[in-house]
Amino acid sequence: MERQMPRFVTVFFFLALSGFIILVCNITSLEKLSGQVISTFYQIQNSIHSVFTSPGNLWPLELNHTYCAHFGQVPTVEEANEERYLLNSIAWPGPLVQGLPVELSSDPSKSYFVIQGPAEQHIGGQLEVNVHVQNFLGLPKKHGGDFLIARLHTPELGAGVAGQVQDHHNGNYTVLFPLLWAGVVWVEITMVHPSEAVVVLKRLQEEHYDRVFFKSLFRSGFLSETTVCNLCLPLNHQPLCNYTDPETGEPWYCYKPKMLGCDTRIIHYKGGYKNNLITEYEAKFFKSNVNMKVPIHASGMGNVTVLPAEKGLANFKKNKKTSGFYFHNIWRPLRGTVLQQFNDSSAITRCLRGKIIHMFGDSTVRQWFEYLTTSVPSLKEFNLHSLKKVGPFLAVDSKNNILVSYRCHGPPIRFTSVLSSELHYVANEIDRIKGGPGTVILVSVWSHFSTFPIEVYIRRLRHIRRAVVRLLNREPATLVVIRTANLQKIDPGYSLYNSDWFSLQINAVLCAMFKGLNVQMLDAWEMTLAHHLPHLLHPSPPIIKNMIDLILSNICPVGKKRRS
Ligand SMILES: *[C@@H]1O[C@H](CO)[C@@H](O)[C@H](O)[C@H]1NC(C)=O
Ligand SMILES: *[C@@H]1O[C@H](CO)[C@@H](O)[C@H](O)[C@H]1NC(C)=O
Ligand SMILES: *[C@@H]1O[C@H](CO)[C@@H](O)[C@H](O)[C@H]1NC(C)=O
Ligand SMILES: *[C@@H]1O[C@H](CO)[C@@H](O)[C@H](O)[C@H]1NC(C)=O
Ligand SMILES: *[C@@H]1O[C@H](CO)[C@@H](O)[C@H](O)[C@H]1NC(C)=O
Ligand SMILES: *[C@@H]1O[C@H](CO)[C@@H](O)[C@H](O)[C@H]1NC(C)=O
Repeated sequence: MERQMPRFVTVFFFLALSGFIILVCNITSLEKLSGQVISTFYQIQNSIHSVFTSPGNLWPLELNHTYCAHFGQVPTVEEANEERYLLNSIAWPGPLVQGLPVELSSDPSKSYFVIQGPAEQHIGGQLEVNVHVQNFLGLPKKHGGDFLIARLHTPELGAGVAGQVQDHHNGNYTVLFPLLWAGVVWVEITMVHPSEAVVVLKRLQEEHYDRVFFKSLFRSGFLSETTVCNLCLPLNHQPLCNYTDPETGEPWYCYKPKMLGCDTRIIHYKGGYKNNLITEYEAKFFKSNVNMKVPIHASGMGNVTVLPAEKGLANFKKNKKTSGFYFHNIWRPLRGTVLQQFNDSSAITRCLRGKIIHMFGDSTVRQWFEYLTTSVPSLKEFNLHSLKKVGPFLAVDSKNNILVSYRCHGPPIRFTSVLSSELHYVANEIDRIKGGPGTVILVSVWSHFSTFPIEVYIRRLRHIRRAVVRLLNREPATLVVIRTANLQKIDPGYSLYNSDWFSLQINAVLCAMFKGLNVQMLDAWEMTLAHHLPHLLHPSPPIIKNMIDLILSNICPVGKKRRS
């Protein structure tokens, strides 16, 4: 049944397309179309929908998920079940046919939102906003899958909170915001991608795992050679060097150099980005200021006034989905830790006294290392003669017995140059740590996985999770903090490799896989979404300070004795 669907899709696609040819030829006069022709459009679109409404919402699984299966280990039954569950949980709805005229795709400027409820509401309540997505013709969309983000804010108060977006799969969306402070609050809804662009991103994720490619330099004596490397390479092409990690089984391969042996690999580096990934037609769904990270305007009121809580109703802690909010530009977590401000270096030193902090991952955790070493003068960086921006890095304050280290995660890592000898997997590193109440592990592994099928990320996290479980079993008092992906500045080219949509999927998997473990999740997504500063791969210093304050608040919670 599922196998046959693509053929049906093709047939309907051509039927539909033939109906649209006239329109496509006369695209400039589209706006003047008579209502009758437009309703014919929708009859066709609706008939396509009814044919393909499958029971349940499993249809995205028809994608080929056997990516490079022969290069990794065969998953156990349990692993396969977990993977299936995770893939189902992140299944993304969208248009069921592709190739329709661009005019029928989602247009943020023709879409609108409507605030529900009275103009005055109370703290502790929930603000509901309905979003109606329309196409370039100004007609309602009939399916879901648009990627929207939402923020509620009061600029004068430095206050902001992320909204939860619910897709009704019919072109309508509901956004819910907890009301957490008094004042005039403004609703901000942004279309990151129309559903038609998400389809393209899904295709890239499955088909072009090598759109970022890697290389290695091999050297022996005066001889040096360079070859292409990746998690998976076409077989029967030329001989491969197999660098599969013996401990985790994480695959990594390079083409074998012509003259040198596989054991002469010296340097791993990012080869580059492949171009010409999408067609001219697909590119129309990735236009800055048209349909990429474009605000959706309000129909009617764009703000409400929030009044102090009504008696007995101020119970926003019930809101399980929101991690926290900004007030006076200070992050206020809604659960767990009470945030403290660590404004001066002596407060940080006091908190870190006797501690060993290990940071593992990409450049977004390296930012924390840089923050600590620049804001705490007594923490002296030890010169390991490492490559700039790559590491490993080490900083010590021997007087206060503080050690802070940073090491990047193993391949796929897109840094310009990493010595092969420094390519270590996070799981293996964690396995070598004693742990205990004086040890803190900070992990951020996400941005270099966006170009791979999500199964690759699931496998990597599974190995890290196992190592964390072993560590917490050895030393339950070890503090483990895991940082999620954050929003980024995207342009049409960049989005094909690093779209926030990839990060959204990565976060869903990350949170599901660490659920129930005694680890702290640091919600970098909401911390960047709720803040007024622009989205950046490396969030701005004020956001980093809030993250560090949150981590330090976890290490040195108020009212409790120091952890060691
Ligand atoms: C396009 O529209 C013009 C006038 O609006 C008409 O003469 C022409 O036949 C149309 N072309 C097609 C391919 O239908
Ligand atoms: C999925 O991909 C694998 C490897 O690329 C291929 O062998 C297999 O036939 C594909 N399966 C389907 C259903 O397309
Ligand atoms: C979406 O919302 C609009 C406006 O409230 C409503 O007219 C329309 O019926 C809704 N669409 C669906 C499919 O429910
Ligand atoms: C690479 O080595 C690993 C572990 O030794 C092995 O399981 C895997 O099958 C090898 N890959 C290939 C393509 O031979
Ligand atoms: C709230 O929105 C309304 C309608 O758009 C506007 O008239 C009003 O000035 C806004 N309130 C504030 C405090 O800006
Ligand atoms: C830290 O600095 C902020 C902003 O300057 C200030 O509002 C806050 O009171 C300070 N907190 C402490 C504990 O010094």
